[in-house]
Amino acid sequence: MISKDLRKNFLDFFEKRGHKIVASGSLLPSDPTVLFTTAGMQQFTLYLAGGRDPIERFGTRHLASCQKCFRTDDIDKVGDDIHHTFFEMLGNWSIGQDQEKGYFKKRMIKYALEFLVGVLNIDKNRIWVTIFKGEKNIPKDERSKKIWQENGVLRERIGEFGIEENFWGPVGKTGPCGPTSEVFYDRGKEFGCKNPDCGPNCHHCQRFVEIWNLVFMEYIKDEDGNCRLLSQKNIDTGIGFERLVAILQKKPSAYETDLFLPIIQELGKISFKKYEEEKRNFRILADHIRGTVFLIAEGIFPSNVERGYVLRRILRRAIRFGRLLNLPKNFLIPLAQKVIEIYEDTYPEVKSKETDILTILQNEEEKFEKTLEKGLKQFEKISAKGDISGIDAFHLFDTYGFPLELTQELAKERKLEIDIEGFKEAFEEHREISRAGAEKKFGGVGKEASFEATKLHTATHLLHTALKKILGPHIRQMGSDITSKRLRFDFSHPQKMTAEEIKKIEDLVNQKIKEDLVVKKEEMRYEEAIKSGALAFFKEKYPEIVKVYSIGNFSKEICAGPHINRTSELGKFKIVKEESSGAGIRRIKAILE
Ligand code: ALA
Repeated sequence: MISKDLRKNFLDFFEKRGHKIVASGSLLPSDPTVLFTTAGMQQFTLYLAGGRDPIERFGTRHLASCQKCFRTDDIDKVGDDIHHTFFEMLGNWSIGQDQEKGYFKKRMIKYALEFLVGVLNIDKNRIWVTIFKGEKNIPKDERSKKIWQENGVLRERIGEFGIEENFWGPVGKTGPCGPTSEVFYDRGKEFGCKNPDCGPNCHHCQRFVEIWNLVFMEYIKDEDGNCRLLSQKNIDTGIGFERLVAILQKKPSAYETDLFLPIIQELGKISFKKYEEEKRNFRILADHIRGTVFLIAEGIFPSNVERGYVLRRILRRAIRFGRLLNLPKNFLIPLAQKVIEIYEDTYPEVKSKETDILTILQNEEEKFEKTLEKGLKQFEKISAKGDISGIDAFHLFDTYGFPLELTQELAKERKLEIDIEGFKEAFEEHREISRAGAEKKFGGVGKEASFEATKLHTATHLLHTALKKILGPHIRQMGSDITSKRLRFDFSHPQKMTAEEIKKIEDLVNQKIKEDLVVKKEEMRYEEAIKSGALAFFKEKYPEIVKVYSIGNFSKEICAGPHINRTSELGKFKIVKEESSGAGIRRIKAILE
């Protein structure tokens, strides 16, 4: 079965059973404390937590989707048969079982077998399952065990595990979660090990592949880490799409299926090497290139912070692997084009963002090419002395653009250690120095001057929203610096702005200044601020109560302030410079006249 048919069959199956098909949400979840979308349920969190009524929004409490996901915890495992950074998840939901017509364990387990065995013709004897054995005040899931048996799954194929294996969620620190029952596919003895208790969740081999996670979402975790019963019961499930495609196409991994083959073949062509001989290298490259295409299509740019750093990390890792395979200059381009061809029908954004994707890939490759060679030489030099000090690792990062993880990987290949704490210290110290430099710039700023800076701060908020409105929603703030004379604003955008765009942005900001909008400050709970649509940066942790500044109905941002009271105080806004500030990042300098 080709991958497109699997997506369709899954969605059709649930549509026929009264589910509404919802399009994949973005890879960037609306909760900025979470880096990426890692599960299909994320776009439905509020409904699953009982805060919103699914009927009002979707007309039903039964939903299904195919969701784009990206996980960073498995980067090191990529290269084996079953791990990826970017992947797709097929899922179905029943939100609120206690409500009329909601379903729970019995119907879900039936659906799972009906789809896998009845629709996909998977041999029932190859299906093994696990259930929650009970742990930490959460009772054993006897009911699921019974239902599986009633549906013909033999007792000896039902494993029982605790919190670690059979309890799912929440995605962030808090949110809905619950015990799970997982469905595994037995690939056969030839993939197994000699361990006497080899079975699902075996740590020694990959004979049993988890394909479907059925979450019985009955709990919610609070800020203190306590789980209490949720006001409703939900079904939340997820199928690892790539894994199921591999099984259906009778291949050991997705890399050999139609999801990856064109990329693998292109790699063979440009490297003059064989997949069978370079399996791990080909797989890592193929996975990382697919991941970068999807991240860039979401408007992410390589940088040294947060999501941009993840992108840079896998991109630079791919570039290094490209070098190991001796790939020609600009090798990322034909490979990315293959990714786009494979996915353009399902995710049209990869096609519509093609120019951005290819430009950014090329820029990053050219940029890293310049330092990679020298950096590798430098690494050879320091690694000859033994373990890598924090300062040396920082030097590789700062001067040669080596993400720490890349240096770690190189060190591991030579069985050397890195002083990670030392790296962090050097990193912090460097930040302190830059900060001190920035503060010096503000040195001796008098009352008058700080009023000027405050005005420029308010103008920065207007500019931020104007950029989003005129250039598009992909705009993300990458940095901001304000002196008493000018503002400087860095943001993600793939190309130089045209004179016309600059003019439009100036005009929009000046119009908002003329409208004499009131700048309002509110304090509210962080979640409330996000729900109300306030712009925020991804951060590990915001305080529980945040300040939100809104300017009329035009702009709303979480911000520490200060700001002026009315926009008419700003005068005239003028952009004095627009320039590049790194790959895919533009910098605007502007003044108030
Ligand atoms: N939310 C569950 C998962 O991600 C289905 O595995």
